[in-house]
Amino acid sequence: MTPKRVLSGVQPTGSLHLGNWLGAIGNWIDLQKDFETFFCVVDLHAITVPHDPKLLRESTLSTAALYLACGVDPKRSTIFVQSHVSAHSQLCWILNCVTPLNWMERMIQFKEKAIKQGDNVSVGLLDYPVLMASDILLYDADLVPVGEDQKQHLELARDIAQQRINSKFSKKGDPILKVPKPLISSDGSKIMSLTNAANKMSKSDPNEGSRIGLLDPPELIAKKIKRAKTDSEAGLEFANPKRPEAHNLLTIYTLVTGKSKSEVEAECLEMGWGKFKTLLAEATVSALSPIQSSYQELVKDQAQLELILATGKEKADEVANTTLDRVSNAIGLLQKPI
Ligand code: TYM
Repeated sequence: MTPKRVLSGVQPTGSLHLGNWLGAIGNWIDLQKDFETFFCVVDLHAITVPHDPKLLRESTLSTAALYLACGVDPKRSTIFVQSHVSAHSQLCWILNCVTPLNWMERMIQFKEKAIKQGDNVSVGLLDYPVLMASDILLYDADLVPVGEDQKQHLELARDIAQQRINSKFSKKGDPILKVPKPLISSDGSKIMSLTNAANKMSKSDPNEGSRIGLLDPPELIAKKIKRAKTDSEAGLEFANPKRPEAHNLLTIYTLVTGKSKSEVEAECLEMGWGKFKTLLAEATVSALSPIQSSYQELVKDQAQLELILATGKEKADEVANTTLDRVSNAIGLLQKPI
């Protein structure tokens, strides 16, 4: 039996943070055992907002290195750069032509990002979720491990596959595209900002203190945690809706220590913020330390990284082109001459 497929990706914009790791990349590692896994660095998504070309190139390579440092194993997973596999843009065009504009205008992330761009909103930003649907559908992915914020994009990918391709173009009911399912963990899927627990931790927050970068040095991690917003109550608890900061920091503590929620609850019930923040900083530093050491080793050998991405591109191309041909054929594009 062929193993089920998994696909996911992260944008190479700035440095990855704790939310990206706890909500997404950290969950990819175990999936490598039981699934055929594809992980891409989605550089074409990163250019949907203004960007610096030099930084994008550096970030693309360093994001790939971080995948490896977090435990993505090139022997088990296909690791590649989205723009290296041209089928992503090609399928995106086809899907653009069947996706209603009003589906796109409903996308929450588009609305949020568009407000920040004012008059400079690009067509690419509006189209972002269709490109994401292409990423997923090209690999016949069964599961897509992501954080909570990507749920609506996943629903769109499912609707495009089902309602706009399979129901309209499949003959004899054979599906053309696999309809994927999101895989969203119950705990780390929405890590909130350290400075405002109403917002998610995000790469684009102008306040650096709102997030912990995976490559932040120990002193900076401790400083950010020390300054994290808290409340004036004594004792820490998960479930009080009036205490979102406590919920967020305890969740991070649970995930970086690997302790259960009830263990953490018992440990911190009577603790003050000062003591807890020291514990959290120590636990975060020690959870990130092996990732940081491994990253430092990996970036020393750029040739090896490029080789991994070249091998990944070859494998990804093969799978993606097969799907692209299937869709092209189904919608009536004339078969390419051999
Ligand atoms: P991106 O680059 O914004 O984020 C990468 C992954 O990290 C998750 N994430 C979070 N999880 C928990 N708490 C947070 N505060 C937090 N912030 C981010 C995201 O949910 C995501 O899983 N559109 C995607 C990239 C993408 C993609 C794909 C993902 C493009 N094509 C195909 C899966 C499959 C994005 O912007 O992720």
